[in-house]
Amino acid sequence: MNSKENSAGDRARDLKPGSELPSVAGLRPDFIWGVSTSSFQIEGATNEDGRGQSIWDVYCRNGKVKNHDTGDVACDHYHRYREDVALMKQLGVQAYRFSVAWPRVLPQGRGAVNEPGLAFYDRLIDELLAAGIEPWLCLYHWDLPQALEDLGGWTNRESVAWFADYATLVAARFGDRVKRLATFNEPSMFSLFSGSLGTGDRNREDALHRMIHHVNLAHGAAVDVLREKVPGASIGCIHNYQPCWPSSGSDADAAAAARLGIYWNRAFPDPQCRGEYPSPMRPAIDRYIQPGDLARIFRPIDWFGLNHYSPVYVKAQPASMLGFAFGDKPAGVPLTPIGWPIDPEAFGETLLTVHHDYGLPIYVLENGLGGFDKPDETGAVTDPERVQFLRAYIGAMNEAASNGVDVRGYFIWSLLDNFEWEQGYSNRFGLTYIDYPTQRRIPKASFRWYADLIKKARRR
Ligand code: FCB
Repeated sequence: MNSKENSAGDRARDLKPGSELPSVAGLRPDFIWGVSTSSFQIEGATNEDGRGQSIWDVYCRNGKVKNHDTGDVACDHYHRYREDVALMKQLGVQAYRFSVAWPRVLPQGRGAVNEPGLAFYDRLIDELLAAGIEPWLCLYHWDLPQALEDLGGWTNRESVAWFADYATLVAARFGDRVKRLATFNEPSMFSLFSGSLGTGDRNREDALHRMIHHVNLAHGAAVDVLREKVPGASIGCIHNYQPCWPSSGSDADAAAAARLGIYWNRAFPDPQCRGEYPSPMRPAIDRYIQPGDLARIFRPIDWFGLNHYSPVYVKAQPASMLGFAFGDKPAGVPLTPIGWPIDPEAFGETLLTVHHDYGLPIYVLENGLGGFDKPDETGAVTDPERVQFLRAYIGAMNEAASNGVDVRGYFIWSLLDNFEWEQGYSNRFGLTYIDYPTQRRIPKASFRWYADLIKKARRR
């Protein structure tokens, strides 16, 4: 048994059954409680009102998703957004993070603007504001217009200009009402795994490094646009940050885990927040960097968006790109129903690391549990594992805040069960159950628990 196994076993004790609320005494009085979603995962209406195709429409059509699921209907949020905002109001959240579907507003990714697409986000934003919920808008949550993918997508340096133009359109249209703006969701995920998170053949080291650099440049360009066009903007980027740990005590696995950790956790935050790429990446990425690029990426931002779920266990696989593969999880690590390790202490450590390394206010913009929830015979959906998970993770965040971490908000993934990428609709992360055949929304037990927590936290 290695030391991680020991500590994972100890950590399992954090997960006590029951539904009592965690302490929030360490959190700021103006702490923001929210929920997150993304366009492709909930909107549906993929062929309506002039929306163009995204890489995910094509990926689904090519049969790459479990059960041949597609985003065509998803949660039908495009038509049911009012009901969804009403759910948020019932929940008591102060903020809602969503993304704009680039191909809905620019069907070809650039050029002709699709007015009905913009009008949908106008309606959504107005509905949120009327409900007293602050909109947090993310420009890019993976649904690249297919027309741009056909030109090489993020591997083409032109993508920086495409993204800046798209940001200009969004800022001009919504900047009067939306002040919280994120450039990208999890750039490391769609760059590292774009063979699956995109349509193209991107699993080459050279394409990977070009893509990383262009996405970083696109971030910097969009920050400048948003800063200039949106008075009072509060801007950040949302990073998926999970500690990468070796799955055995071998040196080779330790080296592979360290290498993956650099790409997964640092390839974007380091240049964006510190103005440099981590040194182990430089031999591979330097050839794509033109004079002035690092200054274009390192633009002042207001916060660090943190998505965190679980540590990642890694083993060496010399034949693969970057020399890693996912390894076995040590025995004794508690797992979510979909098999992700549960380790609230690792969340606390991640908060400390991000605070220490980047010194920005942190908003946790995704955290949650994936399961296979089902209504019982009375029609109720009870999800005690999710409640236990949230209680333990929020407890760890409270502790980190008490230890000086500047964490200012926490958003659960997700408001609704939704299209979980390659897993389709089989994995459910929602506080609200979706009965897909009828589109009925059923708040789960965790929904009521979170509503109680927010009430308690806001009464302070
Ligand atoms: C994150 C994604 C989000 C969702 C959750 C479960 O990596 O940002 O869209 O799929 O995982």
